[in-house]
Amino acid sequence: MKRLMRARANAHIRELLASDGLSTAKLIQPLFVQEGLEKSQQLPGLDGNFRMGLEAALKQVESDLEQSVRNFMLFPIPAGKGIDAEPGANMVAGIKDRFGSDIQLWVDTCLCSSSPLGHCCLFHADGPGDGSPTLIDLEATLKALSSYALAYARAGADGIAPSDMMDARVGAIRSILDGNGHELVPIMSYSTKFASQFYGPFRDAASSAPSFGDRRQYQIDVRNRTDAINASIRCAGEGADLLMLKPGMTSIDLLAPIRRKTSLAVGVYQVSGEYASLGLLARNGFADFDAALLETWHVYRRAGAQFIITYGARRALSLGVGPS
Ligand code: PBG
Repeated sequence: MKRLMRARANAHIRELLASDGLSTAKLIQPLFVQEGLEKSQQLPGLDGNFRMGLEAALKQVESDLEQSVRNFMLFPIPAGKGIDAEPGANMVAGIKDRFGSDIQLWVDTCLCSSSPLGHCCLFHADGPGDGSPTLIDLEATLKALSSYALAYARAGADGIAPSDMMDARVGAIRSILDGNGHELVPIMSYSTKFASQFYGPFRDAASSAPSFGDRRQYQIDVRNRTDAINASIRCAGEGADLLMLKPGMTSIDLLAPIRRKTSLAVGVYQVSGEYASLGLLARNGFADFDAALLETWHVYRRAGAQFIITYGARRALSLGVGPS
């Protein structure tokens, strides 16, 4: 009889044989910061996560540091709508002035929180309704995204993370960064990003729901494996330093092939709907939230994820996941 159960017999041997380590060094905590917000708001579905003003965000980062969180993904939410990188740049400067190299601050770079239409791009003709614009103005979009990236880099961002899915944006961002002395600022591309139901809680959190239509013109169709792989290869070719697949759960089969084809570090984003679904299971008594969260992180590591963006990073230490 082949006895595989020998490898599962006690905690020591299970620990010994665990394939992939997990540490807080591998986790990235999202931060939602809204310009001028006075009172923090708990984000529905995202336990332990808040929409905060800058002052509250500084306190949050301070407490996260005590929990060994070192990596953050900032989502800047402007007070009003309009294509303007300044509110985000001020947040970056505020956070980096305070914490310096104690943290690694990535900035989600997209237009959906500031565009009046709630899309990740600009269109040739504005105004929703009957004559809803459908033709993406790629040139204007790339110009706006690059100016955001440059403003964030100038403000001290440690890395730029474009999440818009426009063709050529990684190349455009790399070029403006390099042209302005920011050659060492890395780009983490949301390189394979599917159109998904699992972004629901986020769109409330970041005030980024589209005012018309959906994002299927620019986010990938889950049925299209070729496109999903090519999108990451394309970003690698344009100069991305890190690739990221999203939602993590619906991309798990793509981690290994994308890593193989690009030789780049590939991570996942455990998106808002994934995290929220664990909370819903737990609240119904169907799972233990922390144990379920830990289980999903281990699966991402086993599948080859170099890093995990997760709303639960700040819980990691309390789950027994320490600094490496
Ligand atoms: C927007 C953006 C989204 C997420 C990250 N950046 C939402 C979207 O594309 O609609 C999703 C994150 C999450 O659901 O946790 N550019």
